[in-house]
Amino acid sequence: MEFKIKTGELAKQKTPCLVLGVFEGRKLSGPGEAIDKASEGHLARVLRRGDLDGETARLLMLYDVPGVSSERVLLVGCGKRKELDRRAYRKAVAAAVGLLNETQTVEALCTLPELVPDELGLYGAVRETVTTTLDKVYRYDQTREDKKAPKHPLKRLDLWVSKKQDRDSVEGAVRHGAAIGRGVALAKDLGNLPGNICTPTYLAEHALALGQQHQNLRVQVLEERDMEELGMGALLSVSRGSRQPAKLIILDYRGGEDGAKPIVLVGKGLTFDAGGISLKPSEAMDEMKFDMCGGAGVLGTLLAAAELGLPVNLIGVVPSSENLPDGNANRPGDIVTSMSGQTVEILNTDAEGRLILCDALTYCERFNPALVIDLATLTGACVVALGKHASGLFAREDKLADELLEAGNRAGDRAWRMPLWEDYQQQLDSNFADMANIGGRDAGAITAACFLSRYTKKYPWAHLDIAGTAWLTGKEKGATGRPVPLLTQFLLGRSRELAETGAD
Ligand code: BES
Ligand code: MN
Ligand code: ZN
Repeated sequence: MEFKIKTGELAKQKTPCLVLGVFEGRKLSGPGEAIDKASEGHLARVLRRGDLDGETARLLMLYDVPGVSSERVLLVGCGKRKELDRRAYRKAVAAAVGLLNETQTVEALCTLPELVPDELGLYGAVRETVTTTLDKVYRYDQTREDKKAPKHPLKRLDLWVSKKQDRDSVEGAVRHGAAIGRGVALAKDLGNLPGNICTPTYLAEHALALGQQHQNLRVQVLEERDMEELGMGALLSVSRGSRQPAKLIILDYRGGEDGAKPIVLVGKGLTFDAGGISLKPSEAMDEMKFDMCGGAGVLGTLLAAAELGLPVNLIGVVPSSENLPDGNANRPGDIVTSMSGQTVEILNTDAEGRLILCDALTYCERFNPALVIDLATLTGACVVALGKHASGLFAREDKLADELLEAGNRAGDRAWRMPLWEDYQQQLDSNFADMANIGGRDAGAITAACFLSRYTKKYPWAHLDIAGTAWLTGKEKGATGRPVPLLTQFLLGRSRELAETGAD
């Protein structure tokens, strides 16, 4: 998919399809008015007939509009002018792109960013157009012939802006949007693959291939024997029940100054979670192939950062394993010793994410990190609390929490902060070990975060529970690529990029 910025007289733009927004009450937007004028009132006459009122995402394709160089004009309902927020804007763009992609329109020129939703500004509108388009045209075809794939998919969407002086800023927006889209697509591809293909070994090989493709990215994979030497007894205890060997994938991107402390992203890479001996019920168990979406999000974010050449030092750590029942698997009541030296009583083998993460988090100490963010499909409780709309955010420090919340808001990939109070810690008390791996029925997402907090005392840390946001269920079942947009936005915020492109 290609995106180019266009300026200049709209009526004279040669394109197979010109996309124009219409607000409710049949009100044309700026670019729409220009085309209406050039066509001597043709658009107004069409709208008066009442085929399109402007309701969000309604579409009307016009052919042979007089006085206009483009072959077609696609009118897109954008709702009430005052209510045009990110949500409505996304809906409108997705509807337009959906139609273009399924018809014969391989190229189009889109003027929707000129509507500049207040929530987004022009930079944000352009970027949102790019990411929404990439999201809409994404297709999974790795394990089947995609018979429903459009014959002539949309290949190029140009974006028209009225003011030439905005060019630099919106070109930055296209670049950022395209890189985020690339990272999201990688995270979706890996997430959507089934557990029998996307094993820890597959994830590790994919990471190594990424390292081959990007000069500034070095990738290293630790094997089970390496983890044994490091004393990663918690991580290895999960993998014991699987025939697939665990891997610890480490990606190292150096875009910042030598010696600048790295930002470390840790992603849960559980390639299939059957629950272990505490076996999950079979309903929707297939969705536990998505339990590696944290790991996929780390790979996707590193890809986006490397493609943008962000001036930060960034390390990705992905502990990867399966969680299956087996004669050699963890039993409830087993006690394991983590790399930190703390012992854990495994009261439920299905609370395995925290077991593989705690050793990865201890491993992070060696990087002397500026901060560590982990992302994990950690608890069903988080889905109960926040649904599919917000990731759960946990952090000890308000400043880091606010920075991440703000990044999520800006990227349209929102998180919501949850408490991490000392009061909850006692739920992890064990009579036989330093802690239990579960904290009872109450506040399950919080006690999981409390568990991780015991392994992250040596650096600033935040935890994103993405159990609700990393994939969709039902008819739209599939990975979302979240929280790659949030994390990339966070990194952009920490980069000089911001000043250079006016992203702020
Ligand atoms: N991967 C799951 C969390 C999960 C469950 C994500 C459902 C999305 C949907 C995790 O490993 C898990 O099984 N967590 C348990 C923890 C419990 C045993 C304390 C859970 O949430 O039920
Ligand atoms: Mn589990
Ligand atoms: Zn899990």
